[in-house]
Amino acid sequence: PHVAVIVVAAGSGTRLAAGAPKALVGIDGRSILRHALDGVFAAAPAQVIVVAPAGFEGDAETEVREAAGDRVDLARVVVGGDTRQESVAAGIAALWGDVRTVLVHDAARALTPPAQIDAVAAAVAEGTGIIPALPVIDTLKRVDGDSIVAPVDRSELAAAQTPQGFPRAALEAAYDAAAAAGIEYTDDAALFAAAGYTVRHIPGDARAFKITTPDDLDRARRLLAEAPA
Ligand code: C5P
Repeated sequence: PHVAVIVVAAGSGTRLAAGAPKALVGIDGRSILRHALDGVFAAAPAQVIVVAPAGFEGDAETEVREAAGDRVDLARVVVGGDTRQESVAAGIAALWGDVRTVLVHDAARALTPPAQIDAVAAAVAEGTGIIPALPVIDTLKRVDGDSIVAPVDRSELAAAQTPQGFPRAALEAAYDAAAAAGIEYTDDAALFAAAGYTVRHIPGDARAFKITTPDDLDRARRLLAEAPA
């Protein structure tokens, strides 16, 4: 109960080069946003805020109606900003009622299992944010131009996914602090930690990968053909 999911879907999708905002690009018969929302509604949240690209609010509302069914009153669509951080801030400003836990989820992670959404929500605690993460499997190097400077110990690293979950009041305070300082962070966990709060990680899932390039879209299509969501 009292869990809101902010689905950020306002990115342009330049690297996907599909000629439409990324969230509205089709995977199979359904768009990236629709698949993301199907996963979110399967997790039974109390409230869903979709942050849409400017000019595409109507398209986002259609996707929300189809994904939400008779729970459409739990959802709102707002317009995003030029950066992901501005888009999340617009989502936070649209929260209503007695939400205690806020999850921020990338629409681009369209095939995220509902169990991952539930697990993040369940792990959020007082003053503590939660992110799902996977071990890094690539061999990583620190570089300077074309020189290899040093190997990187991958046991110290984790690849962050979404949804990232936070106690609402602390997240609002952290966003206010970031806006006041004029600092742009790489993700919500970094912004939250910069405000002095704790962030922990729980196991992520390979299916929660982010669709960024045409290859990623192909991978999503193959996964859906093998095991329809
Ligand atoms: O660009 P990237 O794939 O890293 O974006 C991650 C998520 O943030 C996507 O779901 C995208 O729609 C969202 N985003 C946004 N507003 C922006 C930029 C990105 O909502 N200005």
